[in-house]
Amino acid sequence: ETGHFTYDPGFTSTASTESKITYIDGDEGVLLYRGYDIAELAEHSTFLETCYLLLNGELPNPSQKTSFENSITNHTMLHEQIHFLFRGFRRDAHPMAVMCGVVGALSAFYHDATDYDDPKQRMIAQHRLIAKMPTIAAMAFKYSIGQPFMYPRNDLGYAENFLQMTFGVPAEPYKMSPVLAKAMDRIFILHADHEQNASTSTVRLAGSSGANPFACIAAGIACLWGPAHGGANEAVLKMLEEIGSVDKVGEAVKKAKDKNSGFRLMGFGHRVYKNYDPRAKVMRETCYEVLEELGVKDEPLLKMAMELERIALEDDYFVSKKLYPNVDFYSGIILRAMGFPTAMFTALFALARTVGWISQWNEMIEDPAQKIGRPRQLYTGATQRPYIPLDKRK
Ligand code: SDX
Repeated sequence: ETGHFTYDPGFTSTASTESKITYIDGDEGVLLYRGYDIAELAEHSTFLETCYLLLNGELPNPSQKTSFENSITNHTMLHEQIHFLFRGFRRDAHPMAVMCGVVGALSAFYHDATDYDDPKQRMIAQHRLIAKMPTIAAMAFKYSIGQPFMYPRNDLGYAENFLQMTFGVPAEPYKMSPVLAKAMDRIFILHADHEQNASTSTVRLAGSSGANPFACIAAGIACLWGPAHGGANEAVLKMLEEIGSVDKVGEAVKKAKDKNSGFRLMGFGHRVYKNYDPRAKVMRETCYEVLEELGVKDEPLLKMAMELERIALEDDYFVSKKLYPNVDFYSGIILRAMGFPTAMFTALFALARTVGWISQWNEMIEDPAQKIGRPRQLYTGATQRPYIPLDKRK
């Protein structure tokens, strides 16, 4: 006979995480990094300047900006031994599996950045992770297509370097498009941090036990991989390709309203935003720019996405449940147009979110009151009962 303990609702843990890094007003659709509006940062800042802001709390002055950029640029290369780690994966391994493995393994190489009690080591770990994620992501892509790894170049900006490592080949220099490089940098800014989302909470919980920063970021990558979280941009493209054409979009929206269908509109809805995700607005503008630059502005996927957004935003079901496009709705279309395979989409999200994860990890470590995380539970299992010998069980 299983009974249930009665429990005092007061036990339900209402503890929330305190942070000074990112502010979201879900009802108003506002997102601020250290008090600066995401649309302004996307318009005027760069990803590395935004990294400095998230890590340090203020925009850098010219000399701080230069020394931070130099510190990142000079740590973009991986230990040569790590190339062998890549060779242990199957060529068709998902890039997120590779990133999880390689980032976790960084703690086996960079012993001077694992003592989280030492602020200097913490800073080295932060800079190393921000610097090496593009190299790791690009190598995961190159390995999957059987092309040679491209080394990072110190004469290029952060996003430009990532694009040349991803799409460049030794046989000929990569033809850089300033429009695409700027779009890539802006996409990184949009994904940099987002308060206590599932993967950031995972990084904080892992870090609260004293695990080294590389292992904590690997845990964040694992959590981000899920289709309900970082994997949604890959799922949006799969959804649009399954819908197939603009005239079938209405049917898909109808199906998404039927709970028994198990079908949800990927890239729509959010745990916090009950208004238009401010990142999705910038992403949509960036989508137009990139498709224009690539001469594919009548890309069918974009037309389907815009028609889906138009229908859903006029539909009572979505309006009443406050479901709007989120950051993932347009990003996949841009990345596909830029030449990334869908399997790389979440890897790019992880690349960009690393600065948010490591900033939140550092904020937690610096908090003197910090204790190991221990989420509370409400026990709803069997009450105590005597053991039943095997021959007495039904
Ligand atoms: C990210 O947390 C973060 O900040 C995450 C993120 C970040 O930057 O880190 O913003 C990144 O993860 C963006 C979200 C990406 N995921 C997707 O796009 C997947 C599709 N969206 C969902 O599955 C869904 O919207 C969630 C998972 C994001 C949120 O799900 P919830 O918590 O169920 O949303 P909700 O409580 O607001 O849902 C309200 C209602 C529910 O129906 P009822 O129970 O009220 O009857 O709306 C329904 C939901 O079933 N609903 C949807 C829907 N999303 C919610 N119905 C159809 N299509 C959808 N996409």
